[in-house]
Amino acid sequence: MPAITDSNGLLELIRKSGAVDAAIFNKELQRLQQAGPLPADARKLAAILIREGLLTEFQAGHLLQGKWKNLVLNNKYRLLGLIGSGGMGKVYLCEHVMLRRRVALKVLPTQLLEEPSSLERFLREARAAASLDHPNIIRAHDIDQSGQMYFLVMEFVEGINLQDMVRRGGPLEVNQAAHYIAQAACGLQHAYLAGWVHRDIKPSNLLVDRTGVVKILDMGLAKLHSDEKDDLTKRFDANKVLGTVDYISPEQATNSSQIDVRTDIYSLGGTFYFLLTGAPPFNEGSTAQKLLARQVKKPRPVHQLRPEVPEHLSAVIDKMLARDLNERYQSPDELLIDLHDWMQLPLFPPNPELLPPPLPPLISAPPTNKVATTSTMMPAVTLSTASGRLPAAAAGPLSSRILKPVSPNEATSAASERSGKTKSVAVDPSEEVDLLEDEPEKKSNLMSYVWIAVGALILLIGFALAYIIVFL
Ligand SMILES: Nc1ncnc2c1ncn2[C@@H]1O[C@H](COP(=O)(O)OP(=O)(O)OP(=O)(O)O)[C@@H](O)[C@H]1O
Ligand SMILES: [Mg+2]
Repeated sequence: MPAITDSNGLLELIRKSGAVDAAIFNKELQRLQQAGPLPADARKLAAILIREGLLTEFQAGHLLQGKWKNLVLNNKYRLLGLIGSGGMGKVYLCEHVMLRRRVALKVLPTQLLEEPSSLERFLREARAAASLDHPNIIRAHDIDQSGQMYFLVMEFVEGINLQDMVRRGGPLEVNQAAHYIAQAACGLQHAYLAGWVHRDIKPSNLLVDRTGVVKILDMGLAKLHSDEKDDLTKRFDANKVLGTVDYISPEQATNSSQIDVRTDIYSLGGTFYFLLTGAPPFNEGSTAQKLLARQVKKPRPVHQLRPEVPEHLSAVIDKMLARDLNERYQSPDELLIDLHDWMQLPLFPPNPELLPPPLPPLISAPPTNKVATTSTMMPAVTLSTASGRLPAAAAGPLSSRILKPVSPNEATSAASERSGKTKSVAVDPSEEVDLLEDEPEKKSNLMSYVWIAVGALILLIGFALAYIIVFL
């Protein structure tokens, strides 16, 4: 579908896509109309709708390109934005249409699930992970499928992961780092008692919410990647999407099928090291050198790199990173005994400057949904979400000609089209938001580089021809 340039086209697509609740949209548009006519240019109208909190930048960006399908998945999840991406696919911020609350949706790369056995294994793992219920583990709500695409639906946590926290703000205060690690250990203890090994504990898989509660992400997902036949060096080198080997235990690097909770304790030790020093324990050389180093060397003790770290805490990290499994803590609980003093401290909310601005309440949120509570092993903390809507738009003049109310029939047909209940219509990929692909801006950036290169090449050939004609 071609790009949308006029506001009529944009309004039509918004309705067709279900990107905004139809009743709310009509009501809010009427309010805008009363303030003055709306601009005829689609981009200008989109800017107003974004400022009014009716559309997100993500939705507007796709709609303006004529992409409207998949903005609501299975009639249940309304896509609001991209949170981030890693080796296991992209994570999107969504609104649960019926519950009217935000959730995070992780779309899994289809190539990982091509084999029926991997799909089977993934579903088994995801179902089991969904049964875990602990304040320090991200809650899984659902596993769903749309076409070829599988996705996990989880609790959405507004906050920052520990990788980004250190990258943006530098190494953490000693007490704060120890407190975060203790919380992660509480989550791991719960998982351990249920028979779980996470296999991919690392700073980017630990999320801290605005109040300072740590949540473990991606429980059970690492197993999807584990294939005893291939070796780690090859996988991590050849396929950068897989992330990092920096936090992998020595035994996981040699035999990933024979690991237990002590491997998570090692990875948590590496994460602790990173929080206090800004770098993982073995940070030099190639992937192979990093993997070898942990088999033969001890990391430099943290108190030598950060003198304010007490030696007994530095010894705790050494014990978490012990090469010999029997010298390591044998369970997260055992580690928690040594972190007892830090566990008693109050929560450490992240520095607000490192966090994105709080999200406003959803435009569809019921009025009672203004306060959320978060609990941890520490006393419960009440967190007030940001109140008030986004700043009101400098709404343009009123124009009834572009405000075509949706008839109930239209609304139903759009809804049933989204849910796939209408007679099947050939899918036009240009109308579809591809959740596995890169962002449209990134793609168009790439395309512009390609065009620049082609232009430069043509110019060069032109010069060469002119030279040949003139001088030879
Ligand atoms: N439930 C969630 N709520 C809020 N943010 C989330 C949630 N799940 C993931 N994120 C964020 O999404 C981003 C991408 O996560 P993702 O797990 O895809 O990447 P990763 O951890 O870097 O890599 P990997 O795939 O190896 O785990 C991270 O910044 C993470 O903080
Ligand atoms: Mg992750």
